[in-house]
Parts: sequence; structure tokens; C-alpha cells
Amino acid sequence: MQGRTSLSLRGEALLASPPFPEYLQEHFDRLDGIFDSVTNAEGYIPLSVAENKLPGLRLLERMAEVSQIPARVLGYDSMIGSMPFRHQLANFLGRTVFGRKIEPKQLAVLAGAGSILEILFHNLCDPGDGVLVPTPSYAGFWADLETRDKTCIVPVATHSHDGFQLTPNLLDQAIAEAGRPVKALLFTNPNNPLGTVSSPAEIEAIIDWGAKTGVHLVFDEVYALSVYGDRSFTSCAQIRPELGESIHAIWAFSKDFGASGLRCGVLLSGNERLLQAMDSLGYWACVSGHTQYLLGEVISDDRWVDCYIADMQAGLDSAYREVTAALDGADLSYIPAAAGFFLLCDLRRFLAEPTWEAERALWRRLLEEGNVNLTPGESCHNAEPGFLRLCFASCPTDVVVAGVRRLASVLSGLDH
Ligand SMILES: Cc1ncc(COP(=O)(O)O)c(C=O)c1O
Repeated sequence: MQGRTSLSLRGEALLASPPFPEYLQEHFDRLDGIFDSVTNAEGYIPLSVAENKLPGLRLLERMAEVSQIPARVLGYDSMIGSMPFRHQLANFLGRTVFGRKIEPKQLAVLAGAGSILEILFHNLCDPGDGVLVPTPSYAGFWADLETRDKTCIVPVATHSHDGFQLTPNLLDQAIAEAGRPVKALLFTNPNNPLGTVSSPAEIEAIIDWGAKTGVHLVFDEVYALSVYGDRSFTSCAQIRPELGESIHAIWAFSKDFGASGLRCGVLLSGNERLLQAMDSLGYWACVSGHTQYLLGEVISDDRWVDCYIADMQAGLDSAYREVTAALDGADLSYIPAAAGFFLLCDLRRFLAEPTWEAERALWRRLLEEGNVNLTPGESCHNAEPGFLRLCFASCPTDVVVAGVRRLASVLSGLDH
């Protein structure tokens, strides 16, 4: 009912159907009662949010060493990142993530990868256009691409029985069946939630497919440095030094630097008109000049950066080993991972039946009886119920292991 105090139709629609999933709401509601081995041993164990808190205060301590912040950070500057910051980013990202020389003018900086995605797809797609997203996928893409941009994600399902392989055939089939014009493919490497790293040949195949079909290719590379397995990361920018007009890459400080609260994401694109359009909307999502300055100083310190990355990767590796040992010990299956802060647990055998309803019931039972929050597979738009994501770096490893023990205890009564 429209009254004087009602919101716009858009505002009311957001209230009626909030863009964020239930597991996140539960997460924020339970944070007051978080686990503490001394004061709250039954407390909430959050294993559903992709954050890396293992490096602790290292970034903050390095930022605190930056002195004499220049007065220019107080004033207006380019809304897609000050030029000095983009120069620092070009050096840092060229050396560590993109694997080749980067031109600062090919970069746009906005408030996190989420803002980059939202504004990028606003500029690439019209309402109703399709965007291919291989699944399982990062849950947030639906909020980023559909809420205001009104694009329509076309999931490209990959399956457990063939190792979640994405093939050009699957992409062709998705375009053929989309029932709408498809403007882009959004491809995440390293993958969230699988924790896998694409090989150069796999990236090459996607780029060739993009060239053949003429759709934009957006590579989300926000976990580029968070690799700890045998396979090293290769960026699309390294495979195709000339990105052309239709290949774009995204990186952010949120994951690799454990700094999701600083809200700083980066777009690399060779498409000048796109960058101009990004600039036109930057004002509504820009990064504070103060944050840009501090981060710019930190990433210019090559020695500190290299040491931080090596330690961060070793920390992920050791957390992964401890947590998977606990899962093995509890006879809980998972898909082996080599990057990111998560792994997919295969809990299919604990479902009352192979349905989303049964997966929802299982997730809720683990939450209510175990006070442990996993990311439901349904939120990752998995093709098959029963694969729930466990994030192993958002709390200390002994707490994650305690969470695994709780999962095992709730699940022990449910083996089907
Ligand atoms: C693949 C992927 N892209 C983008 C984001 C959003 O990152 P940000 O916090 O920088 O907006 C996430 C966060 O989990 C992610 O996993």
C-alpha cells in the first residue's frame, strides 16, 4: 500500500526481498555470542564468511608506520583512484598478481570488488541482459549484478561427478538456452567456493571461447595471492598481455590482505570507453583518500609485501592441513582445495533426501544444535544439494577445529 511514509517501489522491493542471504543474517545476529574457549565455550563458531584473519594485525601495524599523511588526502581527487595510488598499484599488481607491466591509466579503484562488479556490469549490460556465471559460485554475485543493475545471471552448472569441469561446450549450451542476450561471462579464478586454481591452458580456452563468441570476459581474481597448493596462480592479463576491449580483471585488498573493511577494489581493463563510464559513477563508490594513501605506501614496500605474502600463504597452508586432518579424522568428505580460505564439504550422505529443502534443514540443524554456521550450497547456486562451504581462516585454527568436532557430533546421528 502506497502511503506518505512508504518508500519508493524500489525501496519497498529491497525491504520485501533483501539482497543478502539468510546465512549472513544469522552470522551477524550471532556475533555477540561468539566462541571463547574460556568465557563462552558453547559460543558461536562462524565458518561461513570468506575472510582471512590469520595474519592478525600485520597490515594494521605496517599502516601505523606510515607517517606524514599529505594534506591532499583531505580534498577531492579522481573518483576512480588518485593517480599516485594507481601508479603504486600498477607496480605492485604488475609484479605480484598480473605478472606483467601494467599502465596506471588502465586501472580504476572503487570501494571493494563488490562496487567494481556492480558498476562494471552497469556499464557492460542493459537490464535483462544475461551474464554467465559458472556454479558453484561466490554467493554475492547475485546481489552485485541483479539488485540494481537488473542483469540476469545465467548459471553454468558444473558437477561433482566430473570434478566441476567447465568446458566451452557447457558455455555454448548456456548461451543457447539462456533465452536472452548474453553479454558477459564472469569467471572466478582462484575459484570461490571450490578453492581451485585454473591452469594457463584452462584460462586460454576461456579467452579463445570469449573471442569466438564476442562476449565480455570478466575475470574475478580477488584470491590471486591466497594460493597455497602445488599450482601457482596465472592471471588472464599474463595469458593475454593485450587485453583488448573485452577482457577485464578484478582484484581487491579484501582477501589477499585480509582487509575487507577498508573497501578497496581494482579493475584492470584495456577498454578506454568503459573506464570513462566507470569514472562517471565513481563518485558514489570511491575509496577514501586516506585509505588510498596508506595502502599505496604499504604496497610500495616490496620487502614487506613479499614477506607478508609468503607468511600469509604459509598460514593458509597450515590451517588447511590442520582443518582437513580434523575432517579426515571425523570421516567427513570434502573437495580438496589449493587456494582461498574455504573448502566444499560433501555432506550429501547426511541429507534426508537429495533436495534443497533437506540441505536447508541440515544447515539449520548444524547452526542450531552445533552453533556452527556453514555457507549453504544453495547460496553458492550449486547444481546438487549437500555441498556446504566451510571457511577455515576467519577464526583461529583451533576454533575451526572445535567447529569441525561440533559438526561431527551433530552429524553422527544423521548418517543415512
Ligand atoms: C569471488 C569474490 N568476488 C568478490 C567478492 C567481494 O569482495 P569485496 O569485499 O572486495 O567487495 C568476494 C567476497 O567474498 C568474492 O569471494
